Amino acid sequence: MLDISGKWVLLTGASRGIGRQVAGALADRGCRLILHSRKREHTAALVAQFQASGLTVHALEAELSEQEQVIALAEEALRISGGIDILYNDAAIQSPWHEDLFTTELDEYRLSFQVNTIAPITLCNLMLPGMIARKFGRVVNVTSGIKDQPQLMAYAASKAALDKYVYDMAPHLEGTGVTMNLLDPGWLRTDLGGPQAPNAVESVLPGALVPVLLEDGTCGKWFSAQEYR
Ligand SMILES: NC(=O)c1ccc[n+]([C@@H]2O[C@H](COP(=O)([O-])OP(=O)(O)OC[C@H]3O[C@@H](n4cnc5c(N)ncnc54)[C@H](OP(=O)(O)O)[C@@H]3O)[C@@H](O)[C@H]2O)c1
Repeated sequence: MLDISGKWVLLTGASRGIGRQVAGALADRGCRLILHSRKREHTAALVAQFQASGLTVHALEAELSEQEQVIALAEEALRISGGIDILYNDAAIQSPWHEDLFTTELDEYRLSFQVNTIAPITLCNLMLPGMIARKFGRVVNVTSGIKDQPQLMAYAASKAALDKYVYDMAPHLEGTGVTMNLLDPGWLRTDLGGPQAPNAVESVLPGALVPVLLEDGTCGKWFSAQEYR
């Protein structure tokens, strides 16, 4: 497995749920961390905890529904790090549940696609060229195994679009030293997953780190975290 100690990470959605688990796992491996959430206060305790262990940790805030803030987040992360080695796109929002299957709420689709698709794709597009130039990079885009639930179509479609980006970009990364993969965490008890989910949030590990740690160049693959429990 790859030694990622000292690697610079930009992790979105680090404050809660799955992102918080991933942050802990990356900290355990000695990464230099840039932790994103909507407000710096949301990651303040985590930053203090990791800094107390001697790690280099920064907190950045960005509302990913605002494209200017997405770009500013990337620019600030690059300024701090001098180059991101690992981009972990975890942050996302769930769209409201619609009993009426024939609902098209334009604003819900727009918001879901901006936060769940356009923001992570933008961060990828701003980080990948530097990774390719340095011949190393790991990108993980968190997707969802959601299926047969048209009640949540704005969310489901936004994740399917993110999958498409990864699948179609992957062949272009071949031989560069940079990999980009998808991570399906499974249905977990988080603010987004809800209390009725069958799995504890901790069950996302160790699977969530597998696409980061693989050394065999696997790229454009769907990883299911629950398969590694
Ligand atoms: N939980 C599940 O069952 C499940 C299943 C399949 C896929 N997923 C995926 O796993 C990832 C994490 O989900 P989770 O369950 O851990 O979610 P969560 O507990 O709701 O946490 C969401 C994270 O994203 C950030 N975030 C939310 N909206 C944002 C916005 N508009 N702009 C910027 N940041 C925002 C939050 O930051 P703040 O704290 O600052 O709000 C928080 O750090 C998502 O991609 C989700 O689609 C989850």
